[in-house]
Amino acid sequence: MSQTLEQIIAPHAGKPDELLVLAEQLMDRYRAIPTAALPLMQQQLGLTATEIQSVLSFYHYPVLDAPIKCHVEVCRALSCHLKSADAVLRHLCDSLGAKPDQVSDDGRLLIARVDCLSDCDRAPAVHINGEHVAATDWDALVKRIQAELT
Ligand code: FES
Repeated sequence: MSQTLEQIIAPHAGKPDELLVLAEQLMDRYRAIPTAALPLMQQQLGLTATEIQSVLSFYHYPVLDAPIKCHVEVCRALSCHLKSADAVLRHLCDSLGAKPDQVSDDGRLLIARVDCLSDCDRAPAVHINGEHVAATDWDALVKRIQAELT
């Protein structure tokens, strides 16, 4: 049985230092931070709306009414940077008409630059909807993303 927003947020009540942990849990579940979660996060964690928004925007967490259909993460940390992660990111964005770190106008695609994905040995690391995918064939990556969007 899937957890409700309340059930996901409740264990973090009174623990404002767990905001990032909670954000990751919400991203895993919804591929976005649901707009409806914001007042609950304020109430349970004891943070202001500004505090929450500033952290979420700093880490490029999308706050949306509906989940993102395809969330692509491209690592920008050193190992991946040295293995052309920037070029992979540019290729994906150019091919898909996307802008880095911005949810597409239809709310279905986000290609985000992120810090280390713990896949340094497989650099450049790319995750699609939380799953590592090899970034050896960049056009295959584009096709995979297009398939996720259908
Ligand atoms: S540096 Fe890219 S996954 Fe670690």
